[in-house]
Amino acid sequence: MASSAALTRLSEWPRLKLANLPTPIRPLARLAEALGSPALDLLVKLDSETGFGLGGNKVRKLEFELAPDRLEGITCLITAGGPQSNHCRVTAAAAARLGLRCALIVNGPEPEAPTGNALLHRLFGAVIVTVPERQDRSTQLQSTAVDIELEGGHPLVIPIGASTGLGSLGYAAASIELFKQLTNQKPPPERTVVFVASSSCGTLAGLLLGISLLKLNHVLLVGVSADMSAAEIEERSKQIACEGADLLGWDGPLLTDSIKAIDDQVGDGYGLSTTASDEALRMFALHEGLVLDPTYTAKAAAGLISWVRTGMVSDLDRVVFLHTGGHPGLFT
Ligand SMILES: Cc1ncc(COP(=O)(O)O)c(C=O)c1O
Repeated sequence: MASSAALTRLSEWPRLKLANLPTPIRPLARLAEALGSPALDLLVKLDSETGFGLGGNKVRKLEFELAPDRLEGITCLITAGGPQSNHCRVTAAAAARLGLRCALIVNGPEPEAPTGNALLHRLFGAVIVTVPERQDRSTQLQSTAVDIELEGGHPLVIPIGASTGLGSLGYAAASIELFKQLTNQKPPPERTVVFVASSSCGTLAGLLLGISLLKLNHVLLVGVSADMSAAEIEERSKQIACEGADLLGWDGPLLTDSIKAIDDQVGDGYGLSTTASDEALRMFALHEGLVLDPTYTAKAAAGLISWVRTGMVSDLDRVVFLHTGGHPGLFT
């Protein structure tokens, strides 16, 4: 299938309308100046403002996962994540809006006084099933689904992070939205470099699929890991992008050389701030009035800042920071 036909298929794909789209894009001129690169063409795309359930990147993925045809006969949404999962938050909000039950499989002990996303999971009415460790979540997800069926319910299981081929279509569409917004501006002499926080990889995969459909080989997608190794992020993103391409019936080449994962901002691990991520969080707030989250976007911003400071991007590039949300994580 030609990429133009796949693009049409993507635009016509059934979805549940949840997000406020297109999300805004704007320059980060004061930040560029504070970084000592006043001529750098630095922009932010605010997917933090997708809106629904306090927004972020999960909203776009769930629009596809929760397409009306997939919800026929469904009584309960089930997914899994960490105690501060943004994905669990938006899934629970969607269940509340759709009048469905929601079960969340969450690792770690039940908090005494839930804060941030943990508080929102409960406010949206989700039933929380706790498991001791992260690696216990997938098995529990399946067994909770079986329990719900035995009780006569009909669950829809949404894999962790909605990072499936289907969920990635949300970010293929976002990629197209982004480059449409950028065509209104002067093209960069060299590259457009997009920085995005990565973990379960559906966001990076979707962006890769989108730029491949558009045949944009002047783009570099930098996935800044929140936890996994760079090699794992790259491999998983390519795999999910292939699954998304299969759904569209597109067998054209994925621009796999256009993604680069980096894991040098993980520090001591998932959710643990570093000196660089703290600095990034403060700089975005102080110079741009933008709120980052400590787990994902502050680390992605730290990656961007380090590339600016070390000359890995220059005034010849256009640099886009994709803000994927996660604000409630700041209040924990
Ligand atoms: C705020 C935020 N940014 C980025 C990510 C990473 O997105 P993905 O899981 O699609 O790699 C997540 C996912 O958990 C997130 O919650």
